[in-house]
Amino acid sequence: MKDNNDTITSTLTEERRFAPPAAFAARAQLGDPAQAQALREAAASDPVAYWSDAARQELRWTKPFTQGLDWSRAPHAQWFADGELNVSDNCLDRHCESGRLHKAALIWEGEPVNGNEPEVRTLTYGQLRAQVQRAAQVLTRLGVQKGDRVAIYLPLIPEAAIAMLACARIGAVHSVIFGGFSAESLRDRINDAGAKLVITADGGWRRGQALRLKDVVDEALGHRTPTVTSVLVVQRTGHDVAMSAGRDHWWHEHMEASKATGTSVPVPAEHPLFILYTSGTTGKPKGILHTTGGYLTHVTRTFKQVFDIRDDDLYWCTADVGWITGHSYVVYGPLSAGATVFLYEGAPAFPDKNRFWDIIERHRISIFYTAPTALRTFMAWGEAPILKHDLSSLRLLGTVGEPINPAAWVWYHEVIGGGRCPIVDTWWQTETGGILIAPLPGVQACVPGTATLPLPGILPDIVGPDGASQPANAGGLLVLKHPWPGMARTIWGDDARFKDTYFSRVPGSYFTGDGARRDSDGNFWIMGRVDDVLNVSGHRIGTMEVESALVSHPLVAEAAVVGRPDLLTGQALVAFVTLNLGTPQHPGLAEDLRQHVSREIGALARPAEVRFAAALPKTRSGKIMRRLLRELAGQGTVSGDTSTLEDLSVLEALRTADE
Ligand code: WTA
Repeated sequence: MKDNNDTITSTLTEERRFAPPAAFAARAQLGDPAQAQALREAAASDPVAYWSDAARQELRWTKPFTQGLDWSRAPHAQWFADGELNVSDNCLDRHCESGRLHKAALIWEGEPVNGNEPEVRTLTYGQLRAQVQRAAQVLTRLGVQKGDRVAIYLPLIPEAAIAMLACARIGAVHSVIFGGFSAESLRDRINDAGAKLVITADGGWRRGQALRLKDVVDEALGHRTPTVTSVLVVQRTGHDVAMSAGRDHWWHEHMEASKATGTSVPVPAEHPLFILYTSGTTGKPKGILHTTGGYLTHVTRTFKQVFDIRDDDLYWCTADVGWITGHSYVVYGPLSAGATVFLYEGAPAFPDKNRFWDIIERHRISIFYTAPTALRTFMAWGEAPILKHDLSSLRLLGTVGEPINPAAWVWYHEVIGGGRCPIVDTWWQTETGGILIAPLPGVQACVPGTATLPLPGILPDIVGPDGASQPANAGGLLVLKHPWPGMARTIWGDDARFKDTYFSRVPGSYFTGDGARRDSDGNFWIMGRVDDVLNVSGHRIGTMEVESALVSHPLVAEAAVVGRPDLLTGQALVAFVTLNLGTPQHPGLAEDLRQHVSREIGALARPAEVRFAAALPKTRSGKIMRRLLRELAGQGTVSGDTSTLEDLSVLEALRTADE
């Protein structure tokens, strides 16, 4: 880790400021800068009072809380702990009872199948509640009880949201696993959480192909998944799947046998809501645990503030439900705020590159939230498909997942936003639950390349290696100095790792793993990870995880994975591999290894490049010098200090090695 500290210097300087357009500010919920400033100051001086007010204003509590924050068990925050509520009640019932019964909650479009018009399904709040009520009964019938874990492995179809909300309705804890993960990864996550039930589909459509999800589940459950008693299968593609008698059940049959009745089960505010696995610096993914009251307060409040949501908006966040963005800003934040959410099952280039723009035009999407990597891809495709469509319904744009380079920001602003839409660059993490740093678009200028200021009630800082606060413009570690309601409560089954990863580096603060700088206006410029976690297409990938997958291949002796900058994906994975002694390097082996990683983890972790080497550069104490590998992978040469290198000839050999 020390390798990186001295490299936290930022060279980005960006002078452009994009003030809120007058037409936008005039209609914004928060359009008065003085009011926003007063809110920020009050929240900074008493964050607990600010968040307690938010919890009362934004949510319906079946039992009111009397205490805001209990930090006596630090670093385990307890927010609103003596209160009780239910997430599905807040996302559904309260809207059904207050005038939104017939308002659209979800508008979903499937990928067009076999050249047909795409299927569109609209679920009003009333219809969505009816589905969730039925699904909650199905879960109960299959033996799921409060506190039990349910694994969800689904394509992006309404049933994904229905399944999540049904778990919440009965107090079960869901663990959504992205549909791109392999059987191996799925099994690890099912076992780590001890899931009782798996909810999947026969398949989903992606780029014209049926992804056979049920087959992957069958492979994952083939052996060593002792806790799973049943599998619920949603029919989506209609292809044949094997149904194991006694274990597997059709979703639609069980839904038909259930009734749209029943209330939700109130749970204490600190009752677990979900586990979501994310990559860290070791080979084992971390099951980040989020709880009920604080999390929902945070995502509801920040969704309203950052997206300036109104009843007539149609909001589209392109994230999959398998990631935190899909949890907080596709399902829970927007539905708790009573918004209308658009969901799209497929990929942007299928059947052609008009897809997203056609969707925005046909559905009159007004808020669009996506990842910088997607924007860079659209830029590379050229403006023609965009200019063919009427995107005038858009009024606000957002980004998440990685730093956005100013060129992509300005392109987004001009070409997609027609120069009239503010862009909210939102910085946050799986562990933070919701957005922490982002502009308030009605009152604040957006600046390309920075997520700007912390939201009210959030207290970040930039510190040096000694934990001391850094002056303006000096790079350092991004930390949070005060607990916030959406923060992770622990790592499932590994509390020691939770404390060690987030709370040991900078005593008294939460350490984000990101390096950043704060400019003299207070804007936070994120400079990327300072640990061995890479950001590929906005997805976090631990290099150790990929290395363990590589060394599990019978021919591989040792592997080191590093990132190199990539114009489209932000970072790309480069694997340096040493084969077992005497193994000849045959053509196609690099491709075999890439496939092997796909099978072990999923295609998203497949290295862009595999390089073979007789040995890896190590220090005298045997530690792989990743800094040298990073330089080699990125620039093709090594410029830094090599005095601690054990064997210099290794570097020379690596420099000339290629695929
Ligand atoms: C990075 C995604 C710069 C950062 C919500 C963080 C960003 C990691 C931004 C979390 C942004 C996310 N600007 N960097 N707006 N948003 N990141 O857990 O390195 O998938 O620590 O959560 O993505 O990724 P995660």
